[in-house]
Amino acid sequence: MHADLRSDTVTLPVEGMRAAMAAAEVGDDVFGEDPTVNRLQATIAALLNKEAALFVPSGTMANQICLSVLARPGEEVICEQGAHIINFESGAMARLSLVQPKPLPGDRGVFTVEQVREAVRPGHYYYPRTAVIAIENTHNLAGGTLFPLDEIERIAGFARENGLRMHLDGARLWNASVATGIALEDYARSFDSVSLCFSKGLGAPVGSIVAGSADFIEQAHLRRKQFGGGMRQAGVLAAAALYAVENHFQRLEEDHANARLFAEIVSQSPALRVDLDTVQTNIVIMDLVNGGSAEDLCTRLRDRGVWLVPMGQSKLRAVTHLNIDRDDVIRAAELVTETLQKQ
Ligand SMILES: Cc1ncc(COP(=O)(O)O)c(C=O)c1O
Repeated sequence: MHADLRSDTVTLPVEGMRAAMAAAEVGDDVFGEDPTVNRLQATIAALLNKEAALFVPSGTMANQICLSVLARPGEEVICEQGAHIINFESGAMARLSLVQPKPLPGDRGVFTVEQVREAVRPGHYYYPRTAVIAIENTHNLAGGTLFPLDEIERIAGFARENGLRMHLDGARLWNASVATGIALEDYARSFDSVSLCFSKGLGAPVGSIVAGSADFIEQAHLRRKQFGGGMRQAGVLAAAALYAVENHFQRLEEDHANARLFAEIVSQSPALRVDLDTVQTNIVIMDLVNGGSAEDLCTRLRDRGVWLVPMGQSKLRAVTHLNIDRDDVIRAAELVTETLQKQ
């Protein structure tokens, strides 16, 4: 068998998507003249009920554009300690955005308004200035967990009263929306900036987007060019993103059911600990109970055709997606438990 469960970024463009890319009308997007990019930006701005949106090459660039527009150099960004912006963006907060994180310990990726209140710095020049609160929904490292809307709204209310800005790392907001039935715009309402990815569960080959007010997007435009993210005939990529939103958004439900199934099977192995309460969308985080090496297990599984990814010494991750069906998931989970029995 071959089941690549390392990430939902490994999906390949399907035939219909390739046809849409081939047929895309294009122009020079640095001049703002690519009609397909413009259509994508208008579509997403409408979906999120924001004034404008800007297509960018990656989720990392999307987040860093937002942080560097919302905060000035030396200012602080409150976020959860396992956040992608701190741990998996190669130090870009420091290197590119010139801001520093104020990490909070969350419960399955979720922090509270009380924690935020305590984390805000006193307004004295001795301290860094708190500028932004960043929320990741769904939260990757916590296992694709959902950030409850009522807590988001409480935090946003506090932010408004205290002159702080709100950023949403919504790389997988699509999954959050499908899992909860909450519309994208209802999540987006609390935020000054929102980033979304097309190249994760939606299955497009490349691309992310940022959305916010017209004034925010004007500044984001400048930052995208400074970060080297201006693209020319990007309509071929925007066409894939539009196809992904139209055809692959609602089917994420299948990925969630498959992740649940995978987690239920592997959790029967005494060698693994899986917190089934964290399996809320398409990600399963597993811990080896006796401190075994996640790297070794991944190598042994790979020889049998199941690809997982280590997320720490004894932690590993499986992610379901477009190119994995229910039978793949059952077979892959059984191979994981069999391999662990043979230890
Ligand atoms: C929550 C989250 N934010 C941002 C990103 C960054 O996306 P990219 O890999 O396109 O830079 C990822 C990637 O996995 C992610 O999981």
